[in-house]
Amino acid sequence: MSNTMIKGFLLVLLVLVGPVFAAGDGMNAERAKYHYQMFCQGCHTPDGAGANAIPPLKDFMGYFLRSQRGREFMVRVPGSALSTLNDAELAEVLNWSIDSFAGDSLPPGGYTPYTAEEVAIFRKEPLQEIENHRASVLAEIAALKP
Ligand code: HEC
Repeated sequence: MSNTMIKGFLLVLLVLVGPVFAAGDGMNAERAKYHYQMFCQGCHTPDGAGANAIPPLKDFMGYFLRSQRGREFMVRVPGSALSTLNDAELAEVLNWSIDSFAGDSLPPGGYTPYTAEEVAIFRKEPLQEIENHRASVLAEIAALKP
C-alpha cells in the first residue's frame, strides 16, 4: 500500500469509528469492571458500599445525576479526575459503576451515560475543596422537586 492509501484508509477508519466512541456506546462491561477493580475498588470496595471515610457509591451515586453540578462532581473528585485511566476509560468505568451500584438512587427517567468528551472537560478542574462543595451539591439536589 502506498502512503497516501494508508492515510486514506486511516481517515476512513477514523470517520467510521469516531462517532461510535463519541456516542458513548462503546461500553465493554468486562473491561470496565477490570478497571474498577484495578483503580477504584481498593477504596470503594467491591460492591461500592465504601467504608469509613469512603462514601458509598452503592444506592447513592445516582442522586448526583439529577443536577449538572452533581454530574460534574462525580468526575471532579480526585479519585476520578486524577486517575490514570484515559477519558474514555473513565467515562466507561463511571457508567459501569452507575449501572452496577446506583440502584434506586437513579433518576426515574434513567440517565445519559458519560462520554469521553464530557469527562475530558470536567476532569481538567479537579476539586480542591470537596466537603463543602459536596454538601452544597447535595443540598441543591435535595431541594429539587421530585
Ligand atoms: C485512594 C482512594 C480512592 C480511589 C482509588 C478512588 N476513590 Fe473515589 N472517592 C474517594 C474518597 C475519599 C471520596 C470522597 C470525596 C473525597 O474526599 O475525595 C471519593 C468519592 C468518589 C465519588 C463521589 C461519591 C460521593 O458520594 O462523594 C465518585 C463518583 C468516585 N469517588 C468515583 C471513583 C472512581 C470511578 C474511581 C476509580 C477510577 C475512584 N473513585 C477511585 C476515594 C477514592
